[in-house]
Amino acid sequence: MTDQTRDAWGSQLGFILAATGSAVGLGHIWRFPYVAGENGGAAFVLLYIGSVFLIGLPILLVELTLGRHSHRDPVGAIKAIAGQSGWKYLGYLGVASGVFILSFYTVVAGWTFGYLFKTLIGDLTPFGAFSNNALLNGGLYLAFLLMTVGVVYGGISGGIEKWSKILMPILPVILIAIIIYGLTLDGAGAGVSFYLKPDFSRISTDTVLVALGQAFFANSLGMGAMVTYGSYLKDSDNIPGSGLSVVLFGLLISFLAGFAIFPAVFAMGASPAEGPQLVFVVLPQIFASMPGGVLVGFAFFLILTIAALTSTISMMEVPVAFLIDEKKMVRKTAVWVVAGVTVLFGIPSALSFGGSAFFTDLPFLPEAWSVDSFFDIMDYIFGNVALPVGGFFFAVFLGWRWGIDEAIAEIAKGNQSFLGIKSKVWGVLVKYVCPIIIVIVLLNAMGIISF
Ligand code: TRP
Repeated sequence: MTDQTRDAWGSQLGFILAATGSAVGLGHIWRFPYVAGENGGAAFVLLYIGSVFLIGLPILLVELTLGRHSHRDPVGAIKAIAGQSGWKYLGYLGVASGVFILSFYTVVAGWTFGYLFKTLIGDLTPFGAFSNNALLNGGLYLAFLLMTVGVVYGGISGGIEKWSKILMPILPVILIAIIIYGLTLDGAGAGVSFYLKPDFSRISTDTVLVALGQAFFANSLGMGAMVTYGSYLKDSDNIPGSGLSVVLFGLLISFLAGFAIFPAVFAMGASPAEGPQLVFVVLPQIFASMPGGVLVGFAFFLILTIAALTSTISMMEVPVAFLIDEKKMVRKTAVWVVAGVTVLFGIPSALSFGGSAFFTDLPFLPEAWSVDSFFDIMDYIFGNVALPVGGFFFAVFLGWRWGIDEAIAEIAKGNQSFLGIKSKVWGVLVKYVCPIIIVIVLLNAMGIISF
């Protein structure tokens, strides 16, 4: 396929909305508030903002620039610079991570979709009885995957961009409506102060790890999703400007999500330390007992579903772009091939919550591990480890193999003002600061070094 016929974004705003859609997902609305709540509130928020600007934004620019330079999927982007060398395996890691992350993320996305209807019809089945229903979970999984397929099928400007432009503006509107309603409830103030009061005593090296991991996952970094989205940019597009918009919009949504959740949690006397269960266990009970709760609950699960959908499409687009660019497949075939492989790994994940005894408690895993289901393994390897590893190699590849000056020249095509001090700072961050910090954090996570 020549670059003339390759798909591209219709406008820079369309790209920004699609990239923001990829970034803003369950990671922001479901994960960020409870992680912040558990790790010292505002103190964690500050640490997270630091990680986003020091590591997240520089690596986002690395990925977008690699994509725009080559107009190829992650494997093609690397081959365009390093030929058939071993670096291409970094691209393969990204493509594989795309399929695997999609496979388990869709399980949680399917729950949000199910809870949309559950809230509407006032069904109060507890989460445990909901998540161990094999047929229901398999069905919701396939339904969500099909919605993703439907969007990716339409290509870049006619599918991903079109839907992002429709869905993304709805999100902050509903979020703000929920916040306004939540703040009118008696006792809401306690939730706000829990969320915002900095508690520096809860900042530890673990907190730093969590903040960095969140900076990767929440900004869709480390597996080439942003290489792929960047590959549909034009030379005249402004990479640093778009990247900054994506990061800032993501921070805003993360931050607002806490205001939507904690006031309601405190007003109803629930515990904020429920962790991952908060959204599916605690909130539905709150919605059920709150005046107008059906509507608020419906609105809440609607934004979660929208946020998850604009994220799953970006995960699917990575392997799809690979099959189109490298294997010369037509888009529609590529989409079905990726969906097929995703189902193969996704159904065991969907059955990891009691649907199947085998996948819920894999017999060959040591009892002592906290990882015991098929879903846990996928989440641990591809959600936690593969992203920082990928991010490390993308930074080293650009900084040391391709060359900072070449990359800066690529960025300058669409933004002359990046030349000068901004590009110097970015160069130092990409060549030294990002790789060193990521290695320290990873070694620390593996228990090889400790502080
Ligand atoms: N950023 C999304 C979220 O916060 C998840 C996501 C989408 C993602 N695409 C990705 C994570 C690519 C890692 C890599 O929910």
